Amino acid sequence: MELPRHIAIIMDGNGRWAKKRLLPRSAGHREGMKRMISLSEHAFDMGVEYVTLYALSAENLSRPQEELDGLFSLFRKYFAENVGRLLKKGIRLKVIGDLSLLPPDIGALSKEGEEATAAGERGALVLAIGYGARQEIVSAVNQAVRGGKELSQEEFGRLLSTAGMPDPDLLIRTGKEKRLSNFLLWQCAYTELYFSDKMFPAFTNADLDRALASYAGRERRYGKI
Ligand code: IPE
Ligand code: IPE
Ligand code: MG
Repeated sequence: MELPRHIAIIMDGNGRWAKKRLLPRSAGHREGMKRMISLSEHAFDMGVEYVTLYALSAENLSRPQEELDGLFSLFRKYFAENVGRLLKKGIRLKVIGDLSLLPPDIGALSKEGEEATAAGERGALVLAIGYGARQEIVSAVNQAVRGGKELSQEEFGRLLSTAGMPDPDLLIRTGKEKRLSNFLLWQCAYTELYFSDKMFPAFTNADLDRALASYAGRERRYGKI
C-alpha cells in the first residue's frame, strides 16, 4: 500500500463532540488531545515520516479567554509529557505559527522541545499553534521584499515555516466542514484531501487507516495525463 510521506490533520470538532455529550468544550479539547497523541503515534508506527497537526489557528485566538486558557494548559501538558516520548522514538518536534501571539512560556516550551528532539531521524511531528497560512505567506513576502530580488518557488518555500519539509501528501479534516480554514495554503497545492464527518475526539486509529487506504487508491497527476 502506498503510504503518504507527510500527513496533515485539521483536528476540528472538539466543541461539538463535547456539546453533544452535554460536556464543557474543554472536555472535548482534552479528549482531542488524547486522540492527537494516539493518532500521531499510530501514523509514525505505520511509517509516515511527517505528521502536521493544526491545533490552534491564529483566528482561534479571538475565542473566549477561558477556552484559550484551557487550550494553553493542554499544550503545556503536551510538552511536559510527550517531548521525552518523541525523543525516544526519534521524532523531531517542530512548532509552526506565530508564537508571539501566545503566552511566552508556550514559546519557550516549544523551543525547548524542538532543541531536545532536533537529532531525531525517524520523522517529524509539526504542531501548528497560532498558525495562519496567509500570515505565513505575507511574512515570507515581506522577507523577500527586504531581500530585494525575485525568488523561485523553491526559494520562496524556504522562507515559510515549513522550510525543508516535503509538502503534505494527504490532508485530513475531521468535524464535517469542507474547508481549509487558513491552513497550509501554499503547501497544499497538490495535496490529496480527505474529509471525515466524525468529530475529532471520535476519529479513531482505524479511521486513520481508512484515510490512508483512500490515499493509496488515488492517482496523483499533477496536471499531467
Ligand atoms: C477544533 O475543535 C480545535 C480548535 C480549533 C482549537 P473546535 O474547538 O473548533 O470544535 P468545534 O468546531 O467548535 O466543534
Ligand atoms: C480549524 O478549525 C482550526 C483548527 C482545527 C485548529 P476552526 O473550528 O477554527 O475552523 P472554522 O472556524 O470552522 O473554519
Ligand atoms: Mg471548529
